[in-house]
Order: sequence, then structure tokens, then C-alpha cells
Amino acid sequence: MKPPARTDYLAGLALGRRPILKLFLGFSVVSSLVGVLIPVIGYLWPPSTGSGAGSGRVKVGNTKDILVGQAKVVPMGNKPVIVLNTEQGVLAFSAICTHLGCVVIWDDTRKIIVCPCHDGQFNPVSGAVIAGPPPSPLPVVPVSVEGEDIYVGA
Ligand code: FES
Repeated sequence: MKPPARTDYLAGLALGRRPILKLFLGFSVVSSLVGVLIPVIGYLWPPSTGSGAGSGRVKVGNTKDILVGQAKVVPMGNKPVIVLNTEQGVLAFSAICTHLGCVVIWDDTRKIIVCPCHDGQFNPVSGAVIAGPPPSPLPVVPVSVEGEDIYVGA
């Protein structure tokens, strides 16, 4: 029996241009859809990592780290919190500015909370707006001190 001619054999295996183009087109469409859908799904159903304000207590330091008259921005889950050690005790507020969401910082010279983006200023005891464009006070975050350890969250 005679083997098939080389051209017949290759013709049986070879793909034409059109199926290859369809394969690449399908791959690029699927890749694009996955690239769009994953962030959308992540936004609509965020992972339940137990992070975020009010989702549990987190030890953020101690009263030796944050002396009276000082403050520190610490992570609480995936959100920043500013912890202040004041004459009135240890206090904590969300560190997300109520104007456009920048992270506030402690101004050790003026002893106030400031937003570096548009110079929003907040009272370090109440979180109230002192000056600038923020429309509302910084939200209070529950804080407790056990011994020298500082915990934020409920
Ligand atoms: S984002 Fe804080 S003052 Fe504008």
C-alpha cells in the first residue's frame, strides 16, 4: 500500500487562515470580557476579609508609641484611622477626609488634623471641621486602651 502524498497529509492537518483568525478573535474577546468583568465583580462583591471600619478590634499600638499630644495614622483593615492621644484620652477618627477622600495627617506644629489635599482642618478632640472645604466631621472610630495597648474598632 502506498502512503499518502505529503501534500495530502499536510492538507489534512493544516488550518486555514479563517479558523486561526476566528481563534485569535475569540481569545481576544474572551480576554477583554474577563479584563472588564473581574474589576466589576470585585467592586460589586468585595472580598469578605473582615477589614473595614467596625469589623473588629485591631491593636494599633500603645501609649508609648503615641504620646500625649501626638497622633498616628494606622490601618484598620483596608481603611486608615487616625489615633490621637489627647489630654482628654485616646481618641480615633476615620482618616478619610470627608471632602474628597484624601487621607488626613497629624499636624504636630498646630496640633490639629489636616488634609493635605485642600487644607481641610479638623478638631483633634471632636473631629469637627475647623476650616477648609470638608462638608462634615471625621467619623468617630471606637477606641479602647487596655493597659498600654490601644485598640480601634468594636
Ligand atoms: S480632600 Fe480633604 S480637603 Fe479636600
